[in-house]
Amino acid sequence: MFKSILRTLVGCYLVASLTQTVSAAPAPAQKIFVTMGKDLSHHVFTEKSNKIVSTHDDLTVVEITPEDFEKISHSAHEEFNRCGGFMAHNSLEEAMAELDGNATREFAKNVSLADYSLNQANTVKAHIGEAKEINIRNTIIKLSSFRNRYYKSQTGLESQEWLLEQWKRITAKRNDIKVYKFKHTDWPQDTIVAEIEGASSEKIIVGGHADSVAGWWGRERAHAPGADDNASGIATMTEVLRVLVDSGYKPQKTIVFAAYAAEEVGLLGSKDMAKTYKAQNETILGVLQLDMTNFQGSEQDIVMMTDYTNEGQNKFIATLIDTYLPGVSWGYGKCGYACSDHASWTSQGFPASMPFEAKKNDMNPHIHTSRDTLAQSDNHAKHALKFAKMALAYVIELDN
Ligand code: BES
Ligand code: ZN
Repeated sequence: MFKSILRTLVGCYLVASLTQTVSAAPAPAQKIFVTMGKDLSHHVFTEKSNKIVSTHDDLTVVEITPEDFEKISHSAHEEFNRCGGFMAHNSLEEAMAELDGNATREFAKNVSLADYSLNQANTVKAHIGEAKEINIRNTIIKLSSFRNRYYKSQTGLESQEWLLEQWKRITAKRNDIKVYKFKHTDWPQDTIVAEIEGASSEKIIVGGHADSVAGWWGRERAHAPGADDNASGIATMTEVLRVLVDSGYKPQKTIVFAAYAAEEVGLLGSKDMAKTYKAQNETILGVLQLDMTNFQGSEQDIVMMTDYTNEGQNKFIATLIDTYLPGVSWGYGKCGYACSDHASWTSQGFPASMPFEAKKNDMNPHIHTSRDTLAQSDNHAKHALKFAKMALAYVIELDN
């Protein structure tokens, strides 16, 4: 939320400061490279203009002068009624990198490597019946009992140690499952990973962030139970893992559970992991993000976020809900910005989805405060249980 406001403000400030430079100095012909939506670039420049350097899908790089910059910002404000929507870069390289990033994100929204047909009805139904609300509830209670799970605090390290031990305990009887720390070089909190090795190294990823924050100052000491954001997602994943292990499920593909570090400070843990997987050339069939699963605020039980996500996989998940979760309703919604770890995977070109607890306007209003407790969800994990069942259906059907 804050970030997007900040971005807008920075955009406006940039316009103001460049405008000042222009009026103060007659200036040597200065070049600015700007990325902007095609709609805006075509509105501002004529067809014959040679200012458009490169275009991909909806994004354009233009090479302009400070005068042009003024023209664009004026147009954006007056006619398009917006402040942002374009970004200035110091060099052509930087502008092209932004264009590339955009192309990769567009690719991730539409790529489909997976077979989304349903053919595991019996297995799915048997597993769904094994998921238990009480287990999810108990994990939420435990995780939210740490003072906070901040990425730099002692309790934020201890909570990840607890999760590591918990996942090790759950998977102890299986020698085809590895539970380990994915370490990050720039901060102390680890991402915790549980990997069920399949016949194939192709991966299905179920993830969510384990860290929590409250307030802006003194975060290392602040009380941040993060029961919904996001003990709920971690507890949901943990129950999915337990059900698969206890039933003796042996996957075809490799199933990866990831409890990310440092999401609340800029998606850092997932960004690091997604970049590593990309560098290792991993084949990833799908990524399911579980972030906030236990506050029922909307008429729809599950809201599929359509931004920074893969359209085909979103439809697949909706079909899974219709097929396997009778009485559970779903709808589409939007975050409006890169609001959680699914965006890290999308940015690296991998298909990701983010089924959310409610429409954004109806979500848990207590997140990022000391009031994000299980009491806000009637001391139950009934809503999260629907997500555990959905995730089980997702893993089993995508695996086959
Ligand atoms: N759980 C939220 C994500 C979220 C917020 C989803 C609102 C849907 C609606 C996440 O932990 C979070 O707080 N994200 C940050 C952005 C992130 C890049 C630091 C946010 O939304 O401000
Ligand atoms: Zn959050």
